[in-house]
Amino acid sequence: MRRLIFTAGLCLTLFGATRALRGDAGRDALEARVDALLARMTVAEKLGQLQQLDGFAEGDFRPEHLELARRGALGSTLNVRGVARVNALQRAAVAESRLGIPLLFAFDVIHGYRTIFPIPLGAAASWDPAGVERSSAIAAAEARAVGLRWTFAPMVDVARDARWGRVAEGAGEDPFLGAAMARAQVRGFQGDDPAAPGRLLACAKHWVGYGAAEAGREYNTTDLSERALREVHFPPFRAALEAGVGTFMSAFNDVDGRPASANPFTLTRVLRGEWGFDGLVVSDYESVRELQAHGVAADEAEAAAVALRAGVDMEMVSRLYVRHGAVLLHGGRLDLATLDQAVRRVLRVKLRLGLFEHPYADDVPESDVLLRPQALVEAQAAAARSLVLLRNEGGLLPLRRDLRRLALVGPLADDAQALLGSWSGDGRKQDAVTLLQAVRDEAGTGVQVEHARGCGIEGGDEAEMQVAVDLARRAQVTVAVLGESAEMSGEAASRSVLGLPGRQLELLQRLHATGTPLVVVLMNGRPLALPWLAENVPAILEAWFPGTRGGPAIADALFGDVNPGGKLPMTFPRSVGQVPLYYAHKRTGRPPAEGKYTSKYLDVPVTPQWPFGFGLSYTRFELSGLSLSATRIPTDGELEVAVDVRNVGARSGDEVLQLYLTDVAASVTRPVQELRGFERVSLAPGATRRVRFELGPRELGLLDAELRFVVEPGAFKLRVGQDSTSGLEAAFDVVAR
Ligand code: BGC
Repeated sequence: MRRLIFTAGLCLTLFGATRALRGDAGRDALEARVDALLARMTVAEKLGQLQQLDGFAEGDFRPEHLELARRGALGSTLNVRGVARVNALQRAAVAESRLGIPLLFAFDVIHGYRTIFPIPLGAAASWDPAGVERSSAIAAAEARAVGLRWTFAPMVDVARDARWGRVAEGAGEDPFLGAAMARAQVRGFQGDDPAAPGRLLACAKHWVGYGAAEAGREYNTTDLSERALREVHFPPFRAALEAGVGTFMSAFNDVDGRPASANPFTLTRVLRGEWGFDGLVVSDYESVRELQAHGVAADEAEAAAVALRAGVDMEMVSRLYVRHGAVLLHGGRLDLATLDQAVRRVLRVKLRLGLFEHPYADDVPESDVLLRPQALVEAQAAAARSLVLLRNEGGLLPLRRDLRRLALVGPLADDAQALLGSWSGDGRKQDAVTLLQAVRDEAGTGVQVEHARGCGIEGGDEAEMQVAVDLARRAQVTVAVLGESAEMSGEAASRSVLGLPGRQLELLQRLHATGTPLVVVLMNGRPLALPWLAENVPAILEAWFPGTRGGPAIADALFGDVNPGGKLPMTFPRSVGQVPLYYAHKRTGRPPAEGKYTSKYLDVPVTPQWPFGFGLSYTRFELSGLSLSATRIPTDGELEVAVDVRNVGARSGDEVLQLYLTDVAASVTRPVQELRGFERVSLAPGATRRVRFELGPRELGLLDAELRFVVEPGAFKLRVGQDSTSGLEAAFDVVAR
């Protein structure tokens, strides 16, 4: 069999050489400045550049930070923010330390700084990279206004286990969608130049495999083959790099016997060697110290040595480098060259940010930049685009305009804090508009909106529940807003049960028993397993944690001013026992079928409740005219795929066209299908659009048995559809040249 094997050089061109990989005069000048600085630094000053320390949660620095900055013993902080505080601490570093090296101020700006956008999983449900780029740009501008220069985002961990709470922070289960979202966020935060006004330096995290925690238990071990790393977990990081991301964060977990924060294979061989990354790697919070708990370092000094040698340049919060670096050097357990290399990377990033020329934050009033009207408009649009309509039997939604009595119940109907989700920056609940507030505005005077919580997210009593049930009985429609609290997803928030917490299902069943038509709005940071809802509740709208303007976006969707067009970025299981459940699974010799000895469960179907890529609309779309530019293409060829999508309903709406590829037979096992293209289109009633996708070696290739990237001749199938389970199909062959 002849295959096209790509050399390293061709691969680089294929994957698009990044700006960071290109050499030029500016780069030489920058490296000369780094060298000149390095030559003047003492060992203590070098180690100081590698230290990042944590300020107070509300933004102040700690008294010792001033002293450390003056001594040149601090390189960066996290959580310190606010122009006055940033500039005061920066002054100590720039004006009072011997070499005047500026500090780098970091913060977790994940889905907004003060204007909060949907959580990243919700943003991914928009399948709208351009919108995500705009949200990230607004987040960057707001963060910049409070003196920040670096965000620990995007989180690009591929996650296939809904028990893991951090699925909320990423783009879900798919490397291709994840890569698109990674690129969009890096572009939004950094623009063409992270030094430019209104931009932030981005950080691809958590390198790598963190999303594969066994049993979905936070911080747990992973067991990943190199193939799984390269095919599934690396691509979004690679995409972030190609978009110019300036920094990476090393993860808490271990990968194949080496913690990610002491892993020479991922940190040095792949990231530096194969990918040519020359920015800095920061550890995760104390992950250098945790190398002892992992059992790969007998003491603090050894932990520092293995992390530095593996390629972790900056240490977040723990202080092992500064504490033990000099002794390690002295005793020959650490080379000066290794230390210098880490310092060089930190200085390089600071120079690239223009920090030496402009160390101080501009003193514009924060109120000029935070929560600008345009940001709120974008936040509402982003929330609207993230909505996924999971069920709509009998066209219950949108609600009729002549509705007179609406019961709006459930613990999340009027919970402003929950709207913001986890990692909500400096988002404030008083800025957020709940669904109850929005529905009262939206419904105007004609509709009487009555509200009761019914129960808490986790608790509740009989009396409270009875009030909600009575309201439902008197109403023409009940809307129940149910789900998780913001703290039930995000970091350290794994769950072993994926149903509605507390008594919410009981509340729902009692609301249902009233016979009043029932709509459920879900707010949650992960896929939930909701078999009873899927059978019994006629209309279900997934809203994730939609951010500051979430309430108005959901209200618009309920009343039909917005037509939901989002699609699931992660499979929703029927039962937690199916997890991890994802669409791009490998084949098996005994695919699920009638017979007993096939791959399935005795007590639950193998299929999901709602598949990856799924989402309904208030209108209907039809696909037709699937065409391929060729049915035989050479291994280095390109294929154009085109399809017509037509809005055949009576309302404007959005559809996300998805292209899935299946390699029929290859030299190694392949997933049953893989997303290889998507596009969200907006169409007026009756309108048709022809959507085109390009497939080339990058989409058609695979890693062979030796993990080399090749395009193999053979048969392929593709499908263009509205989710991962249906659509129009075609076949083609890749042939040897
Ligand atoms: C998280 C990171 C985060 C860091 C700083 C850690 O616990 O894992 O994602 O960037 O804290 O807040």
